[in-house]
Amino acid sequence: MNQSSRKIVIAIDGFSSCGKSTFAKAIAARLGYIFIDTGAMYRAVTLYSLEHGAVVDGEVQQDKVVELLPQIEISFRFNAERGASDIYVNGVEVEQKIRSIEVSNLVSKISSIAQVREKLVAMQQRMGQERGVVMDGRDIGTVVFPDAELKIYMTADPAVRAQRRYDELTAKGDDVTLEEILENVISRDHADMNREISPLRQAEDAIVLDNSHMSVEEQMAWFMERYEAVISR
Ligand code: DC
Repeated sequence: MNQSSRKIVIAIDGFSSCGKSTFAKAIAARLGYIFIDTGAMYRAVTLYSLEHGAVVDGEVQQDKVVELLPQIEISFRFNAERGASDIYVNGVEVEQKIRSIEVSNLVSKISSIAQVREKLVAMQQRMGQERGVVMDGRDIGTVVFPDAELKIYMTADPAVRAQRRYDELTAKGDDVTLEEILENVISRDHADMNREISPLRQAEDAIVLDNSHMSVEEQMAWFMERYEAVISR
């Protein structure tokens, strides 16, 4: 097989609001790979749980979520306008709905349920079995594809991430303060790193990318160097 037709799995893990999806999407477009946003899958289960009575007075009813799981069918369809895939639950497109504050506030809890992770990890492994995917999440290089040929662990200064998120939300017209965003960034980091199952951690063979002071172009140049090195091995 020649180098250009050899397809690999690229695992991108890291903190929230690090620009993982933007980076992963750009890589997938450049290489002609499929981009899979695994956070969107946890958000989709969260949305379905919210809409089907598994959250009562803001409290996640774990047994009910587990009971609902067999009836949740998640799929992705490419949206040419966006240049990325939209996520569907039982045939209904929910790309916008899964990004709401309500879902964001509950997703950590839902993604810490063992049965939820089992179902989504198995699905992610099936989606990547032909290789040629860029998958972003928290446990891709450690649990989903421990054999990924290229693993990147993304990080950035919490203050820089909070500022980016603040700019994004205020541009959308949301009424938020930089302080509360920074608090949310720090508490989500803590939850992601300290949950019992599949906590966020750097795989031993992952390369760290701290993009606190890097443009997307600089990150891409950084990536292509590592990619070429792996593919020419
Ligand atoms: O990347 P994101 O912020 O959209 O992810 C949403 C949530 O899902 C986040 O709180 C962590 C969780 N998640 C996870 O546990 N495992 C993954 N592979 C991806 C996301």
